Amino acid sequence: MRKTIIAGNWKMHKTIAEAVTLAEAIKSQNPNPSLEIVICPPFTALTEVAKAVQGSPVAVAAQNMHWEVQGAFTGEVSPAMVKDAGCKYVVLGHSERRQYFGETDETVNKKVKAAITHELIPIVCVGETLEQREAGQTEDVVATQTKGGLAGLSAQEVADLVIAYEPVWAIGTGRTASDDDAQQVNAYIRSVVAEVFGTEAAEAVRIQYGGSVKPSNAKNLLAKGDIDGALVGGASLKIEDFQGIIDGAK
Ligand code: G3H
Repeated sequence: MRKTIIAGNWKMHKTIAEAVTLAEAIKSQNPNPSLEIVICPPFTALTEVAKAVQGSPVAVAAQNMHWEVQGAFTGEVSPAMVKDAGCKYVVLGHSERRQYFGETDETVNKKVKAAITHELIPIVCVGETLEQREAGQTEDVVATQTKGGLAGLSAQEVADLVIAYEPVWAIGTGRTASDDDAQQVNAYIRSVVAEVFGTEAAEAVRIQYGGSVKPSNAKNLLAKGDIDGALVGGASLKIEDFQGIIDGAK
């Protein structure tokens, strides 16, 4: 039985004070640990948000990290630093990182391995662009990204992590993949995991959907058998919207 995981990716939004206020609101409304709730503030707010939700079922994730432990990498943050700030999860390979910051399957793979070494749970993002979807390449793209991002991991390591299917054309556009389309791609990603890592890992790995998830569509998306949660962007920035999504998962 896979535990549903709802993650709010705040992207480059919120000061420390704003982040703590939102974290406290999420914590106070969600005392029930039957769902896993993860919030992903910007780096500057990680420590304070982690303190604010300590002892509650709300976990904290970083939105990215470098794979090296330390060194001369100006502007980067290491896995140990992310862990030290109080994170349980780390989002890796988000399409905005791939699109604007040159992230590749190889760098995602290095980061995934580094995260596991530092006892952080990776949320590995995969997804096709509109051009790729229209060219009929969705399955090829998500298979390549899944295999590339998870290369060299053990079946158990894959079972324990989270994959987020985020079609790039649905991110921040208001265009959500239909429940059936999202279910179909999530099931396909699970079949790719089964092919490479075996059926036990495939049955255990949680696969989220992300891309314009909101209170009005969350319930139907989350009712699908292969959609084990949501990675929410815009609608995670306001307590009413994020709570509406969480309530849709119950
Ligand atoms: O990480 C979250 C996704 O990029 C989805 O963003 O809900 O604003 O479309 P969105």
